[in-house]
Amino acid sequence: LFCRPCEFYFASQKLEQLPEARLPEVAFCGRSNVGKSSLVNALTGQNSLARVSGTPGRTKQLNFFDLGGRLALVDMPGYGYAQASRSVKEDWQGLMFEYLRGRPNLRRVVLLLDARIETKASDRAAMELLTDAAVTFQIVLTKADSAKPYWLRQRQEEAAALVKEHTAAHPLVITTSSETGEGIPELRAELTALAAP
Ligand code: GTP
Ligand code: MG
Repeated sequence: LFCRPCEFYFASQKLEQLPEARLPEVAFCGRSNVGKSSLVNALTGQNSLARVSGTPGRTKQLNFFDLGGRLALVDMPGYGYAQASRSVKEDWQGLMFEYLRGRPNLRRVVLLLDARIETKASDRAAMELLTDAAVTFQIVLTKADSAKPYWLRQRQEEAAALVKEHTAAHPLVITTSSETGEGIPELRAELTALAAP
């Protein structure tokens, strides 16, 4: 699956504008700057596919990518971005919630947590929302290359505990780095199992 090219095909800012639900979908969700767009690039091996930025709040829409005609990858805007205006935040939460709840072809959400930073209230809120919407989510730790080993272990234990607290959580937590490629083959294998034949 990941040997095939991946192409951007749709951006939506409004729910009325979602693309047709023709492929199984996997959405990447997490705080601003956690590394969602970088992970999409690392998974597909296409470094300029999704736009990456050091400035939080870079991705402002739901961006849809077609992977070999078998799976859609959805790069979501980040949450928990303090500088966003209230109306931007509300638009974002509304869009995200409606999308996550109502999308019939959404197979899984990949919820990214920064391996260097402790889990925030906004991350817990996102997990509650996913559990309420009965969407299976999988925790992926990002930026493992720049986490101290002690912290990384703490975060891995914390993520394992979060999985136990949430019925919608998939048991496997994957530690990744978009810089070194750590964990990317494992995550590819998980996503391949969700793709259309
Ligand atoms: P928003 O679209 O703003 O929500 O951010 P995002 O979650 O898409 O993050 P993005 O991929 O744009 O990356 C944010 C910053 O983190 C960039 O400066 C990336 O270079 C950096 N980054 C992403 N992944 C990694 C990683 O695995 N290791 C390191 N060291 N830095 C990373
Ligand atoms: Mg982004």
